[in-house]
Amino acid sequence: MIPAVDGNSLIGPSATGPVIHFRDERITIYQADSTDLNMLDDASVDLIVTSPPYNLDVSYHGYQDAVPYDRYLDWVGTWARSLLRVARRGGRACLNVPLDSNKGGKRAVYADFVQIFRAAGWSYQTTIVWNEQNISRRTAWGSWMSPSAPFVTAPVEMISVFYKDEWRRPHLDRQSDIERDEFLAWTLGVWEFPGENPGKVRHPAPFPLELPRRLIRLYSYLDDLVLDPFLGSGTTAVAASTLGRRFVGVELDEEYCRTAVERLKKSQPPVAGTFP
Ligand SMILES: C[S@@+](CC[C@H](N)C(=O)[O-])C[C@H]1O[C@@H](n2cnc3c(N)ncnc32)[C@H](O)[C@@H]1O
Repeated sequence: MIPAVDGNSLIGPSATGPVIHFRDERITIYQADSTDLNMLDDASVDLIVTSPPYNLDVSYHGYQDAVPYDRYLDWVGTWARSLLRVARRGGRACLNVPLDSNKGGKRAVYADFVQIFRAAGWSYQTTIVWNEQNISRRTAWGSWMSPSAPFVTAPVEMISVFYKDEWRRPHLDRQSDIERDEFLAWTLGVWEFPGENPGKVRHPAPFPLELPRRLIRLYSYLDDLVLDPFLGSGTTAVAASTLGRRFVGVELDEEYCRTAVERLKKSQPPVAGTFP
């Protein structure tokens, strides 16, 4: 049996396996390791929306975000395979990752993710470029005003979209809730909206609610099951819940799980076709 958290007290053995921090009939939040999603059934998830750690030495609780790059990529391959197992046929995975990085030498992080996901068995569909309009941190010029070794910095992140086995999903009995204007705007692959303020959600690397909101409406039906295997402060949980999707979130750190549950409880109950 998986131990559960009731209020502030942990029921069951301290976390060696998954711990449930929140569960109702539509949403579950686990404190667990996403390289091993054994609490989730095979072929059960319709849509994955997530942003993994980027190996940029961010100060997370309980997770070391600076390891040799090869080891980092091996780790990505491990959870890419776990995600494939739990995705249903036609299930999608939307990954928010950096375009590249300068840590320990120039790395084509986004290109490496695409390669690893394909090697894990995912098929590539598309990439959305998220322009987060953040150019305030420009300090690394490489060689100032000289062609000697200039650095180009793109103030964007990538959202790469993959699928399992086949792209087209049948309608079955599930309903779509995307509006015409949203569909027209969001199927153009450059999205512009600002990033989230980490202080506001008590997490060092959150994405803004707008990111999972768009992905969930564009790529899933009402009542679909959405998974975020790197839940952090719970942004995807809030988006999925307010948009009438079922949701599973997985996060390694206990404190972030508590933050996610708090944010989820404060969010509005779903109202068909609207978003707070
Ligand atoms: C980039 S953050 C996600 C932020 C989230 N999108 C938000 O809006 O708050 C990545 C998260 O992954 C968590 N994490 C790292 N390794 C993990 C693992 N193996 N399993 C589950 N979560 C993990 C970290 O604790 C961190 O909170």
